Amino acid sequence: MLSAAAHIHSSDDARRLAKRRLPWMVFDYIDGSAGGEAGARRNRAAFEALTLEPRILRDVSSRNLSADVFGTTAQRPFGIAPMGMCNLSAPGADLMLARLAAEFSVPHGVSTVASTPLERIIEVAGGHAWFQLYFSGDGAGAFKLATRAKVAGYKTLVMTVDVPEVGRRPRELRHGFKMPFSIGPRQFVDFALHPRWSLSQLAAGKPDMANFDMDGFDFDRTESRARATWDTLSRLRDMWPGNLVVKGVLNVDDALALKGAGVDAIQVSSHGSRQLESAPAPIDALPLIRSAVGKDFPVFFDTGLRSGEDVLKAVRAGADFTFFGRSLLFAIAAGGEEGLRNLWDVFSEELSSALAQTGRVSVK
Ligand code: FNR
Repeated sequence: MLSAAAHIHSSDDARRLAKRRLPWMVFDYIDGSAGGEAGARRNRAAFEALTLEPRILRDVSSRNLSADVFGTTAQRPFGIAPMGMCNLSAPGADLMLARLAAEFSVPHGVSTVASTPLERIIEVAGGHAWFQLYFSGDGAGAFKLATRAKVAGYKTLVMTVDVPEVGRRPRELRHGFKMPFSIGPRQFVDFALHPRWSLSQLAAGKPDMANFDMDGFDFDRTESRARATWDTLSRLRDMWPGNLVVKGVLNVDDALALKGAGVDAIQVSSHGSRQLESAPAPIDALPLIRSAVGKDFPVFFDTGLRSGEDVLKAVRAGADFTFFGRSLLFAIAAGGEEGLRNLWDVFSEELSSALAQTGRVSVK
């Protein structure tokens, strides 16, 4: 019998298979978007409306999927977006992603609320890990965490700025999802109906926010992050010697101000449509931001990428590099590390054939 991983031929397949295996609460935590989810639909509709023009009779037999990012060659023009609590998709998910990053020399975004300590992830990722920082409360914890990431050897810090308050995602709220995890009667029934997931999590131990188990590192996922300002950014710029990326930019004036503030790159993103439901589609904002900041300033992109063709569309719209989010977690939930590898290969093949069909040999 074929394993579930062998049935992954698209990101939709991964999502469908994951939906069967995951408790509803976990599926909705990963899949859910803000509010009534119009923002997610708007972005997908914008992606689907974009076309790529076929070009013919050019020799495209030798194709290269690599991309340059901060002076290193990533073997793919896409990496792994930072996501909190990845191990909810399956035990060991953070390290599966880290091994993938090491093999393809692509950035692995390590969330502030990762389910594996940041020191362990960068070690397994062979250095290809970027630390994602949330500011919260008065910011003291965030600066401590940035220092800790620096000591652990992180060279790139990604400050996520689109969560001044945690977005309301009704599907997640309905299930009573919260971190640290608590199991009431509702969750008990949900877990009992998904025994495969529940038994594997039971054997591995309850997933938790692993960067906060030591003195002085506390994080309340629901605490306001609203006190971050341009001054916070400038203090972070002063203390962070490596690359500083600001993630969650959708406005041209903000993008220009960030460039002026000395950040090394901006990431156009609506947090996977998980924050402001009425935000513009990131894929529509991307070309406007690219033309404002000029062709040489690094611009990254995430949100709503579901295929290799989508990656090519984002590159065409101005992205130097892109990131996949929830689809990777669905692949892990569906088929473990093999599922993740299969979906990664699917994305790679989709991009490679899209390049050939549009008469190109690389994304550069
Ligand atoms: C996220 N994202 C996110 N971003 C971030 O900066 N810090 C975080 O901790 C998280 N956590 C998180 C959890 C889950 C389950 C998801 C799905 C997403 C957002 C993420 O980095 C990225 O912006 C989106 O996931 C990209 O969109 P797609 O590919 O999921 O549509």
